Amino acid sequence: MPGAAVVVVVVSVAAVAAVMVQGHPMLHYYSGLKHHEDDHVVSVEEPVAQTTEEGPASNNLPPIVFVPGLTSAALDVELNNAPSLFGCPHTTEPGEPLRMWPAQINSTKDYFCFLENLKMWYDPISNQLHNRKGEKVLVEDWGGFEGLPLFRKVYTPLVKKGYVIGKNLFGAPFDWRGPARTFPDFFANMTKTIESAYAQNNNRKVAIIAASYGPQFVLAFLHRQSQAWKDKYIHWFIAESPVWSGCPASLLSLVSGYDVSNGTLSLMFSRQVAMETASSFWLLPRAGTTNTTWGKDEPIAFTPSRNYTSSDYKQLMTDIGFGFRTPAMEYTVNDTDLKDFEHPGVNTYVTYGYNLDTPGTFVWDEDFVHNITGAPPYPRVFNATDTGDGIVPVRSSMRAWHAWQDDMKQAKKTLMYKGYNKQQHALCILSTGSGASCWHEVFQCVW
Ligand SMILES: *[C@@H]1O[C@H](CO)[C@@H](O)[C@H](O)[C@H]1NC(C)=O
Ligand SMILES: *[C@@H]1O[C@H](CO)[C@@H](O)[C@H](O)[C@H]1NC(C)=O
Ligand SMILES: *[C@@H]1O[C@H](CO)[C@@H](O)[C@H](O)[C@H]1NC(C)=O
Ligand SMILES: *[C@@H]1O[C@H](CO)[C@@H](O)[C@H](O)[C@H]1NC(C)=O
Ligand SMILES: *[C@@H]1O[C@H](CO)[C@@H](O)[C@H](O)[C@H]1NC(C)=O
Ligand SMILES: *[C@@H]1O[C@H](CO)[C@@H](O)[C@H](O)[C@H]1NC(C)=O
Ligand SMILES: *[C@@H]1O[C@H](CO)[C@@H](O)[C@H](O)[C@H]1NC(C)=O
Ligand SMILES: *[C@@H]1O[C@H](CO)[C@@H](O)[C@H](O)[C@H]1NC(C)=O
Repeated sequence: MPGAAVVVVVVSVAAVAAVMVQGHPMLHYYSGLKHHEDDHVVSVEEPVAQTTEEGPASNNLPPIVFVPGLTSAALDVELNNAPSLFGCPHTTEPGEPLRMWPAQINSTKDYFCFLENLKMWYDPISNQLHNRKGEKVLVEDWGGFEGLPLFRKVYTPLVKKGYVIGKNLFGAPFDWRGPARTFPDFFANMTKTIESAYAQNNNRKVAIIAASYGPQFVLAFLHRQSQAWKDKYIHWFIAESPVWSGCPASLLSLVSGYDVSNGTLSLMFSRQVAMETASSFWLLPRAGTTNTTWGKDEPIAFTPSRNYTSSDYKQLMTDIGFGFRTPAMEYTVNDTDLKDFEHPGVNTYVTYGYNLDTPGTFVWDEDFVHNITGAPPYPRVFNATDTGDGIVPVRSSMRAWHAWQDDMKQAKKTLMYKGYNKQQHALCILSTGSGASCWHEVFQCVW
């Protein structure tokens, strides 16, 4: 990034500043369970009993594990003779990892070191994504919120309510640089944390609340647990603004960069983060024949001599000069958790926003050229015809509603959906001001 002097970057798809607009909810209930019995209704504004440091929280509160979105978790690197092309540090002191994310970049060299650490490589022999040799990426404060710097808003009202972090409220920071199956430690940690939360709280089942990119990780986790385990331990899976069919904005971030933070992030930085990690591949608009996926006859990217649909990603990557990332892209798109999209086998409540202008298609006035150091100019952006939450079109969050109904009915699990007019992406959980009806309703359901 020539000319970059100081770039301190804190981005989070889930942290896009926005005003919460109260809407007229669109309600879909499924399979008949009632969740809103009055004795379970708890208002956020209500005065709450204070807890003391040592005293247990109210024993009536079901434990909650909170799973954040893309780029939300701080990431550190531990290096042990990791090769560097740029003369970057190759070994760290034991117990003193380097902070990788949020990135603090003071020079061009820092920038290259950052990208070197960030990159997920694809190995065709093992058919896996991995870090470079000698590099280990760590999350901070598993089970707590210290590695989730932007989530004070999530836990503060819950702590006021009587929740105690580490006792009945847990943060699940995860390495967000690729599809869930790349990070088996996340699955192991989730299992342990949920079992211990259950045991520590008089065998109360645990609610998992996940936002944005988080529901993909949780779905993958639940796919790996037995039905008996899920029946024993899981109370609810709350999926807030899930991106289950991907979103066009992710394609934009790979081609020209996409600035979700409204002008504070360089487009080139955004594109490089998208290319070096694999998460944007797991967020590409999903090819399919249903109305909650993207069809072969629906171009997303238009250029003068070629249009690209969800079936043309390989060509697209080649045309912009990143053909060498195609195997990583295909590995990620092929991932069965989202490809087969089996239901989670637990009661699930999905909330999402609609009626906001949301990137849907992009028009470039020039054809793509092979160029890995420069991105095509920013395209003209057209809103999705099915609207969305400002980032993710409605159809992506709706995918489960159409895909899971029959199977979940058979499995005797509830699938509940609720849309909020003009609610911005992932702001149900992050917006607890008065009038945050979505937040209220989620906790009515959990409590
Ligand atoms: C950039 O500067 C800040 C503030 O001095 C420092 O904390 C950080 O470690 C520096 N970043 C790198 C990669 O050295
Ligand atoms: C798993 O949990 C341990 C502590 O129990 C923590 O040290 C580690 O960072 C966690 N790893 C992941 C990938 O969550
Ligand atoms: C984005 O930036 C523009 C121009 O700087 C400003 O007018 C607009 O209010 C900003 N939008 C948000 C959501 O912050
Ligand atoms: C998708 O199709 C189903 C019927 O197959 C219909 O009920 C639903 O409204 C459609 N959804 C969207 C988002 O158009
Ligand atoms: C791209 O799609 C548009 C709209 O469907 C169409 O008019 C145009 O001819 C297509 N371009 C190419 C090169 O196929
Ligand atoms: C992905 O799936 C396609 C079609 O099933 C297959 O041709 C390709 O080899 C797979 N690629 C990877 C990297 O798994
Ligand atoms: C690639 O992009 C860079 C940066 O915009 C530009 O300087 C360079 O000329 C481009 N190369 C080609 C072959 O278009
Ligand atoms: C669509 O998006 C553009 C910004 O790209 C905006 O100016 C326009 O008003 C939006 N809405 C509609 C309905 O076209």
